Amino acid sequence: MRFDPWNPEFVAHPYDVYNELRRERPVSFFEPTGQWLIARHADVNALLRDRRLGRSYLHVATHQEFGRPDDPGFQDPFWRVVRAGMLDVEPPVHTRLRRLVSKAFTPRMVEALRPKVARIAGELVDRFAERGGGDLIAEVAEPLPVTVIAEMLGVPEADRHLLRPWSADICGMYELNPSIEAQHTAVRAAEEFSDYLVGLARARRADPGDDLISALALVADEGDKLTEEELVGTCVLLLNAGHEATVNVTGNGWWSLFRNPAELERLRADHGLLPTAIEELMRWDTPLQMFERWVLEDITVGGVDIPRGTEVALLFGSANRDPEVFADPDRLDVGRVDNPHISFGAGIHFCLGAPLARIELIESFGALLRRAPKLELTAEPSWGPGYIIRGLTSLDVRV
Ligand code: HEM
Repeated sequence: MRFDPWNPEFVAHPYDVYNELRRERPVSFFEPTGQWLIARHADVNALLRDRRLGRSYLHVATHQEFGRPDDPGFQDPFWRVVRAGMLDVEPPVHTRLRRLVSKAFTPRMVEALRPKVARIAGELVDRFAERGGGDLIAEVAEPLPVTVIAEMLGVPEADRHLLRPWSADICGMYELNPSIEAQHTAVRAAEEFSDYLVGLARARRADPGDDLISALALVADEGDKLTEEELVGTCVLLLNAGHEATVNVTGNGWWSLFRNPAELERLRADHGLLPTAIEELMRWDTPLQMFERWVLEDITVGGVDIPRGTEVALLFGSANRDPEVFADPDRLDVGRVDNPHISFGAGIHFCLGAPLARIELIESFGALLRRAPKLELTAEPSWGPGYIIRGLTSLDVRV
């Protein structure tokens, strides 16, 4: 098999291909997307921190100057939302936007949320166990992070069912060469989501609550620190990034444990291993397989010259199995301590929600281990179509 992100077989098991790439072609050109694939941990890690690359180039050049076509006009509503969030901008705008919300996500601030996260996880798992099981993804993995991030931002309970479909539709644009249908779906979702948030922010401005949208709406009022567009972009990003990968780590993680029964038994016998187990599950089957960067100045990677104006695709899933960094990398080891996995990224865009994601995962895996000590699979799961955002469609289990 070759690197083929549209092939379901590759998506289900990309790791042999990665092993070969790392060994034989650690920096290779991938014709179908015109990107350079970067396979080694050292290179992925270095490029994420290298300011000669960026998530965007629009702060230093126009589309024309980068030899790229203009975005088709129908995509405007999508790009307006996405390019107003911190993930798709570079300093100094990135610094300003990240600073506005970073206080809410520090390890200390989110540690204070742990009892609440534990309560929500406990209630979801109790209900799940009382029914004897079902689809772990729909009933536990999704509602936990969606509820937590929606409560932090102040999205009313009655509207929360809207978040997951909007997010999924928007994320369709993040896959490689999205179809025209996927593009239209993403644009529609971005429009609806931003209309909804504009309305919510206005309501909160008139009647503030103790939540992040109220806080941001008040900042936006003060003048030059945050525009309404940036407020919407920030909230969309937090609501989407705030659950998408966590859902997949929960599903992929349990599936990894079921495929490695000795490690599952080890964890069942010692719940104290949970913190290292969560990191290891994120390494062993990486939820976000690839992130892209634009090359803003000529660079050389592993002896290969990559010119300004090209794009690199950083293979996180490959970096996380690099034998130069991880002993016995293909082995799942829930007690692995030396584990510098790259699943949360690195550099200025390092995941803002990492401390929160860790708490959510430890509490949900912990609740399931305690309440469902014999949890078992009832059907072979299947992978969704996504390669970049890679997760199972469902995970059917019996308690
Ligand atoms: C296990 C779950 C998660 C994983 C694997 C994950 C992974 C990542 C990665 C790899 C990036 C960097 C992307 C890049 O450099 O191009 C990122 C950025 C980000 N993540 Fe997460 N994330 C997770 C959970 C969360 C949660 C719960 C939040 C909640 C707020 C969150 C919010 C963000 C934000 C706001 C950014 C953009 C940061 C910036 O541009 O400065 N993430 N995440």
